[in-house]
Amino acid sequence: MTKVTLSVIKADVGSIGGHTKPSEPMLEVVRARVNGAIGKLLIDGTLTYTGDDIALIMSHRHGVGARAVHQFAWDCFLAATDEARKGGLYGAGQDLLVDAPSGNVRGAGPAVAEIEFDRDPKSKHRPAEAFLVFAADKCGPGAYSYPLYATFCDPMHDGGLLLNPKMHLGFSLTIIDMDHHARDSDRVIRLDVPERSWDVACLLQNPDRFAIEAVHSRYKPEEQIASISATRLHNIAGKYTGKDDPVAIVRTQGIFPAPEEVIEPWLLGHFVSGDCRGSHVMPIMPVPIGTPVGGAYCLPIVSCMAFSMDEKGVFTSEAVDLFGNAAWDSVRLKVQQKADEWRRQGFVGATMASHAELAYTGIVDTLSALEKEFTLRGEPLAATGD
Ligand code: 13P
Ligand code: MG
Ligand code: MG
Repeated sequence: MTKVTLSVIKADVGSIGGHTKPSEPMLEVVRARVNGAIGKLLIDGTLTYTGDDIALIMSHRHGVGARAVHQFAWDCFLAATDEARKGGLYGAGQDLLVDAPSGNVRGAGPAVAEIEFDRDPKSKHRPAEAFLVFAADKCGPGAYSYPLYATFCDPMHDGGLLLNPKMHLGFSLTIIDMDHHARDSDRVIRLDVPERSWDVACLLQNPDRFAIEAVHSRYKPEEQIASISATRLHNIAGKYTGKDDPVAIVRTQGIFPAPEEVIEPWLLGHFVSGDCRGSHVMPIMPVPIGTPVGGAYCLPIVSCMAFSMDEKGVFTSEAVDLFGNAAWDSVRLKVQQKADEWRRQGFVGATMASHAELAYTGIVDTLSALEKEFTLRGEPLAATGD
């Protein structure tokens, strides 16, 4: 039996012609570093990009939050930043928000999803390891709330909750309050579903503040099924520096939902906060891996790769690009049409992000300047001196 940690660490450190995609030289320097670390720091590693974000997908034996692995990811992103600068790319180093991370890059800008588990081919309940890696661009961590709720709490979307007795035992959801600003603590609540699913719903109603950070099995021995990078960049930087663009790991099959159940909710093209300047609300489009952002108003996008892992923690040499399948073409068309219709409302009300989100943008300066020009009708106007 081997204890394996799966770490997905992503950052936006520069992109071509706006917030579209990283350049080949940027990917090349990171690829070379990852290849050099395989068999040493890492058991295995690969990288992908989704929009302008580079995701490192790594297996290793150092545990969750390991300094060496996080520092390695940070150094990869620094090397890519250098390439971005050399090429005159936009937003070089955008997500590297501190000078040097203190061991763990969570809270320093990059998005982190990690799970440690036993990799045991003789295990009765989990002899094989299958998992999905999601990467979303132009949105906040709340983008995963609806699809995860649908998968883990709602048999209308996930028949496995009825058909698989081990899934029927339910799950334990850890939800984080992303408005909790303290550097050295997180504010979290753990709720068991299905009993508490309406309480979960009350929290997830606000995807800008609350997000699912982890899902565990209630089937024993307890296993972590999902990990989601639920940190907000504006809380780290104090202002809008780019959107969070969260990543997620979801382990699948056997005692967990099947990949087809986990991706079913993405058919909807649900509305998420993000897109242009991170300040609007738009439907999210499932896209093939390696898709640049080219949609009007930076339509939010999400990719999903399916992997297997052998008994030593080595990934299969191929991974399956689930949203690259033709089945998703009609969803893409529907989401684009939904977005076009929605954009016709411009800035008024629901099409722009909530005021809590806009508080980190320049609109607050204009609004506070305008405050001074308001008068109370019925009160004498201040003398102008004319
Ligand atoms: P990213 O967060 O993907 O860099 O996008 C930022 C943005 O403001 C796009 O309009
Ligand atoms: Mg960017
Ligand atoms: Mg991005």
